[in-house]
Amino acid sequence: MQADDVGRVFRQSGQDLIAVSEASCMIFPSERIAITGPSGSGKSTLLHIFAGLDQPTSGTIIWPALGSPGNLRPTQIGVALQAPGLLPPLTVVENVSLPLLLGNVNPEQAETAALHILQELELEDLADQLPEELSGGQAQRVALARAVVTRPRLILADEPTGQLDHPTAQRFFDLLFALLVGSDTALVIATHDVSIAERFTCVWKIRQGVLTRPKDFA
Ligand SMILES: Nc1ncnc2c1ncn2[C@@H]1O[C@H](COP(=O)(O)OP(=O)(O)OP(=O)(O)O)[C@@H](O)[C@H]1O
Ligand SMILES: [Mg+2]
Repeated sequence: MQADDVGRVFRQSGQDLIAVSEASCMIFPSERIAITGPSGSGKSTLLHIFAGLDQPTSGTIIWPALGSPGNLRPTQIGVALQAPGLLPPLTVVENVSLPLLLGNVNPEQAETAALHILQELELEDLADQLPEELSGGQAQRVALARAVVTRPRLILADEPTGQLDHPTAQRFFDLLFALLVGSDTALVIATHDVSIAERFTCVWKIRQGVLTRPKDFA
C-alpha cells in the first residue's frame, strides 16, 4: 500500500475538520506497524482509508501488490473495525466464516477454516454463541478472527484489544503473532496501549491528523 499526501477533511457543523493531513507512507509485506495517538487524532480515519473503506479528500492511495480497490476485500485485506460489527443473527463461527463464503469457498470448508482460526486464537469455546452473548472484548477478538480467516496479505485492526485487560491483550497478540509467523502478511493496528505498541517493529505516531514515522522522529 502506498499513500501520498493523503488528507481527509470532514464537514462538521458547517466547518471543515481536518482528520488526516498530508499523510505519506508505505506498508510492505510482513511489516508489523502500530499507529498510536490520542483519541480523535485520526487513527481510525487513516485505517479506513488504508482499507479502501473511505476515500481521501486529497492525495492518492494505491495497493500495487493487492489489486484494484474493487477486489481488495474480503480476501486481500482483512479489516477489524473499532466497533466489532458482528452480524447479530449469526453465531460466532458463522460470522468468522462469512468472508470465506463471500470469496466463494464452500460452506463446509469455510466452517472448518473458521473453527481452525478460532482455535488458534483460543476462542473456540465461543463458536456457537451469538454476538449478543459475547463481552465487548470477546466480540473484538472474534472480529479480528474474521479479519484473518481469509489469510489476507494486509490486516488492519483498529484497537483490537481496546476492551481487554493487559494480560489477556498480551496473550492475544502472542497468538496473533504466532499465527502470522512465516507469512508475508502485513499487520497494522491502531492502539492506545504502549505495552502493545512496543511489540511492533514500527510505531507510527499521529497527532491532530499529522502522521510521523520513525525516520521523521529524529
Ligand atoms: N464520519 C465522520 N464525520 C465527521 N467527523 C468525523 C468522522 N469520522 C471522524 N471524524 C472526526 O475526525 C477526527 C478523527 O477521528 P478518528 O475516529 O479518526 O480518531 P481516532 O484517533 O480513531 O480516535 P479514538 O482513539 O477515539 O478512536 C475526530 O475529530 C472526529 O470527530
Ligand atoms: Mg478510533
